[in-house]
Amino acid sequence: MRGEGVYIWDAEGQRYVDLAGSAAVNLIGHGVAEISAAMAEQAAKVEFVHTSQFTTPVAEAYAEELLAFAGEHFRGGAVYFTCGGSESIETALKLARQYQVEIGHPERYQTLSRQQSYHGSTLGALSVSGNRRRREIYLPMLRGMVKEFAHVGMPYCYRCAFDCTDGCRNCGQQYAAELEQAIETSNGEGSNSAAAAFIFEPVSGATLGAVVPPSGYLQSVAEICRRHGVLLIADEVMTGVGRTGRNFAVDYWFGKDSDVAPDILVAAKGLSSGYAPLGAVIASRKVVDAIAAGSGAFLHGFTYNAHPVSLAAGRAVLRRVQENNLVGAADSGRAGTVAAVFKEALVRLREEEAVGDVRGIGLLWGVEFVADRASKSPFPAEQNFSGRVAAAALKRGLLVYPMQGSVDGVSGDHLLLAPPAVITPEQIAWSVDELAASIREAQLSLG
Ligand SMILES: Cc1ncc(COP(=O)(O)O)c(C=O)c1O
Repeated sequence: MRGEGVYIWDAEGQRYVDLAGSAAVNLIGHGVAEISAAMAEQAAKVEFVHTSQFTTPVAEAYAEELLAFAGEHFRGGAVYFTCGGSESIETALKLARQYQVEIGHPERYQTLSRQQSYHGSTLGALSVSGNRRRREIYLPMLRGMVKEFAHVGMPYCYRCAFDCTDGCRNCGQQYAAELEQAIETSNGEGSNSAAAAFIFEPVSGATLGAVVPPSGYLQSVAEICRRHGVLLIADEVMTGVGRTGRNFAVDYWFGKDSDVAPDILVAAKGLSSGYAPLGAVIASRKVVDAIAAGSGAFLHGFTYNAHPVSLAAGRAVLRRVQENNLVGAADSGRAGTVAAVFKEALVRLREEEAVGDVRGIGLLWGVEFVADRASKSPFPAEQNFSGRVAAAALKRGLLVYPMQGSVDGVSGDHLLLAPPAVITPEQIAWSVDELAASIREAQLSLG
């Protein structure tokens, strides 16, 4: 098996175009030799030291580079490195809790989140996730957290709960108001709020398939959180490090002049483009200072925090992203980029009878399927329509990420598409033609 650019060859030599970026992981392309060289070089110097005993030059340098990449709002902050998304989410939830304790709010312990979200598979991350299929059988294990931690609605314009016709321009505010109410009632007694943090995916990931929020919504969410002393955690595991055409997706809504912004950013996946297991929690100065001025130490840790070989991979990936302007390549709003070509090609899929919606931003797109376009009624879940499309695409040498549950957690089929930013216009044209043929084939297979 091997990989190069957008291609993966399996053990039998069959070639695939990786239109899913594995699972929205790979931005720089497969088989980039300079990344494995950087990892080998680090391993030859020192493969591992424990963070209780040493920091490493690679950790120090990379943390500084990431803070600069995260932008003005994170100046003076700090980075906590882990081995992936779920570990980073656990870290962020605990960091927010400790922040509240340090500033004199021990009553704040809940992390509020959104329905139809996904934040990871460990129990803490699952308790704030809304993905019904992925958490259903674990609910008894999550007990108190699931009962107490509210999940509020999220704007999903194709199936707007308010039945609006203006692209959720106004109802974004209604969804934000739902959060404010959840914060105010979080302890059930009407006195001090028990909410420590609110976590959200700036652009919905796998669960809904690249749903972009309406304008104004995230700014209102940030203002509400600020007003109520609730930390705002942006889960950029899927969207971070260029995937959406910005360094972090939140940059679309919280530019450097914005007076509100997330307090904590979580990154994984694209951070190392999959070359090594790696995640990062990027905390703003406010959070770091509170802990420094309080107990002085974050009560948390994994053995493999800040693993030097993973950090060497991440650092080399960041250099590659910047030197090749892959964030710019992933900007679907700028004419002539591969992301703009990708967007244009995908939008044509709306001509397919089974396609209800095509949405997304940058190089993160969702294609939602419907049995009937007028009523938007989904295919019966047991038909597994998205799985059928993915299977047909696989036979044609195309890898996509099929999901179900976008309508109500069970029914509703969609694909997530997130190719490496090194994909060419020719590869895009071929892939989207094959995808269209796969959709038709899936429809025929229903009989
Ligand atoms: C938005 C988001 N958060 C968290 C996670 C969990 O990351 P990991 O699978 O690396 O633990 C994922 C994984 O898909 C994700 O998409």
